[in-house]
Amino acid sequence: MNKQLLTISALGLALLSTSALAEITFNNAITGAPLDLSVAKSGGNTEVFNKFKETGKNPYNGDKEAVQKGHDLYMTACSGCHGHEAEGKLGPGLADDYWTYPANATDKGLFEVLFGGANGMMGPQYVNLSTDEMLLIMSWIRDIYKGDPKKAKWLK
Ligand code: HEC
Repeated sequence: MNKQLLTISALGLALLSTSALAEITFNNAITGAPLDLSVAKSGGNTEVFNKFKETGKNPYNGDKEAVQKGHDLYMTACSGCHGHEAEGKLGPGLADDYWTYPANATDKGLFEVLFGGANGMMGPQYVNLSTDEMLLIMSWIRDIYKGDPKKAKWLK
């Protein structure tokens, strides 16, 4: 192999390894501190979650079976505060396009609030839910969206 080829292949390898390592960092919506994902309740499909960590896009969006599971989970974990249709109750509505935390218009932002919590009664959900269950619930929230399609940043 000549010198030039060697340089090119070394560059290729370097690019490959950086893309393989690229993982999104998730931060607490209030404090900005990095979230320690290892504290989450274990279980669920870790492969799907690993994909989410690389892309920041919820692989369950638009998947009918996942949306149904997400709905069941939402009913037990969230509806008491956010309402059965996510219309808002003690906590704000989750089906419209107004967000207290604008980052919730992205899957990354929505996950950050679920995992790490926000203010007051909105506690961190990792105690009761695995990261997989959070993604399932998120897919249901996106499924019932009634807001302006242009503001649906998670689709972009
Ligand atoms: C004990 C009541 C309670 C439970 C249970 C609860 N929430 Fe909340 N949630 C709240 C309150 C109150 C807020 C407003 C907090 C704030 O503004 O910082 C909130 C805020 C949110 C927000 C931010 C909304 C915005 O406008 O930016 C999201 C997203 C959210 N909750 C999703 C969920 C999901 C999904 C679940 C179930 C896994 C859940 N919450 C469970 C009370 C609750």
